[in-house]
Amino acid sequence: MSAPAPRPGILTITPYVGGESRLPGIENPVKLSSNEGALGPSPRAVDAYRAAADAVHRYPDGHAVALREAIAERFHVRAEQVVCGAGSDELLALLAQAYAGPGDEVLHSEHGFLMYPIAARAVDATPVAAPEANLTADVDALLARVSDRTRIVYLANPNNPTGTWLSRAELGRLRAGLPDHVLLVLDAAYAEFADAPDYSPGIDLVEATDNTVMTRTFSKIFALSGLRLGWCHAPPHVVDVLNRIRGPFNVSGPAQAAGEAAVRDEAFFAESQQHNAAWRPWFTAKLRGLGLDVPDSGGNFVLARFPGTNGRTAEAADAFLRGRGIIARRMGSYGLPDSLRITIGAGPDLEACADALTAFMEGGHGVS
Ligand SMILES: Cc1ncc(COP(=O)(O)O)c(C=O)c1O
Repeated sequence: MSAPAPRPGILTITPYVGGESRLPGIENPVKLSSNEGALGPSPRAVDAYRAAADAVHRYPDGHAVALREAIAERFHVRAEQVVCGAGSDELLALLAQAYAGPGDEVLHSEHGFLMYPIAARAVDATPVAAPEANLTADVDALLARVSDRTRIVYLANPNNPTGTWLSRAELGRLRAGLPDHVLLVLDAAYAEFADAPDYSPGIDLVEATDNTVMTRTFSKIFALSGLRLGWCHAPPHVVDVLNRIRGPFNVSGPAQAAGEAAVRDEAFFAESQQHNAAWRPWFTAKLRGLGLDVPDSGGNFVLARFPGTNGRTAEAADAFLRGRGIIARRMGSYGLPDSLRITIGAGPDLEACADALTAFMEGGHGVS
């Protein structure tokens, strides 16, 4: 008797490992490992979540109408062109399921978000990584790797974990250079933190073309990571496809209620943006002042690259931070073993992290 076998690509997947949240012997570690909201959730979202608890014996609205309408109002898109998912991860995976399969290629940039190769392998497609220039996606390198078999290009903009982004003009150049049958998926999970004047999440590109999708999440600016909620803005024919294959009740009732309240809580949104806009440059400057290489980030995190000399490696820095109760994210799985990714968390947590990194960089051989 032989055991059931999954499709072969599935066993080539290295399972995604999320940011750690525990440190042995430390009761409340400072968690800067998963790019979660720095201020906790919106109190209005929490109230809506609690209120929804009384109705959990009912199935949720399978079309998430109230939530999609709130998203449409807030982001100036048409509710009919919005699909919600259990995190944007679900939508990224559904797009691969719908548009790629065995023998197809799925393109992403070298240090792109890890869920892209996972989504490709899960449908037996082949992930293809295009090299980056200065830790930034390179439009020419992406276009050079398009083949007859390319079906999807995933681009995180800004990218996790590098924080770098492509300008509106570069996005347009990428779209224009791709064959029409290739779906361009713009993953704008960090769009709300990207305040550079040349940045665009891609809403206009979705509207101007019929082969571009933008995904967004409630896990970052809306600080609802634990509820698993994301959305995408897509051409009507892609919306139709996603609605055929998603679970009929893929977003829970409490998540819909909290998401709607969060979208409508403009004060919380503004406060979260202001927090990031104040602390990201502060933290970036602190780390650069220590001699670390930190690319400009458009997200709620920074990538800190360690020189590697005199014991000042990312590995040693991680161990040092842990010794002080601080959890950052090692980046070996992204091909950046010399780097740590650190979330722009609460002010005191960032001060503690900056102090610890100062001690690490200025101490003898990076150990104390
Ligand atoms: C670039 C990017 N896309 C998507 C996601 C997934 O977000 P969600 O929590 O909505 O599944 C993340 C989460 O870290 C991310 O960094």
